[in-house]
Amino acid sequence: MPEMSALDALHNRNSSPRLSGNPPTAEQLDQIFRAALRAPDHAQLRPWRFLTISGDSRMRLGELFALAQEQDSPGLSEEQLARAAGKALRAPLIIVVIACIRPHPKVPGQEQIASAAAAAQNILLAAHALELGAIWRTGGMAYHPAVMSGLGLTSTEKIVGYLYLGEREGNQKEISPLRQEDFVQAW
Ligand SMILES: Cc1cc2nc3c(=O)[nH]c(=O)nc-3n(C[C@H](O)[C@H](O)[C@H](O)COP(=O)(O)O)c2cc1C
Repeated sequence: MPEMSALDALHNRNSSPRLSGNPPTAEQLDQIFRAALRAPDHAQLRPWRFLTISGDSRMRLGELFALAQEQDSPGLSEEQLARAAGKALRAPLIIVVIACIRPHPKVPGQEQIASAAAAAQNILLAAHALELGAIWRTGGMAYHPAVMSGLGLTSTEKIVGYLYLGEREGNQKEISPLRQEDFVQAW
């Protein structure tokens, strides 16, 4: 199969909310993280790290999600807690993209978060080029202290996103075209 061009991947990447099958192979993950580590990075701070969560580890992530929900709304039913935990099972692999922010005289924290977000986008593009499905999710579970500490984040780290990866269920959805003139102006 011919390799997808970079512009094809950039123009046609889209998100797949329904993912199943096997997690990406070691070779695919190698390609994906090579792409992540090519994100632009002011002052070479490498302000990122990545956790891969697959197989039974997803249950442990689900337990953290349920714990966080229980803390926020004590007395939730078993069913509600199971629904919260089940969110970690929506794909065979979750990559947690973490921004590691450190003081720097020229690189404010927001630039370091932007750099980690660029790494996240590189992961999505690499996954697309490898014909994997993926979606970037956040929600309350990206900002909840119980989840952040359960995942081992320090006080200077933030979750930029959970990237869900797997085999796409169904066809790729239609991409709705946007008009460039609505977003681009010559100044
Ligand atoms: C920082 C960030 C957080 C997001 N969080 C969620 C989320 O929690 N749930 C969700 O359904 N989509 C979320 N999205 C949007 C999807 O990743 C996706 O971009 C959107 O569904 C549009 O689909 P497309 O990427 O195919 O254009 C998030 C996107 C970004 C950039």
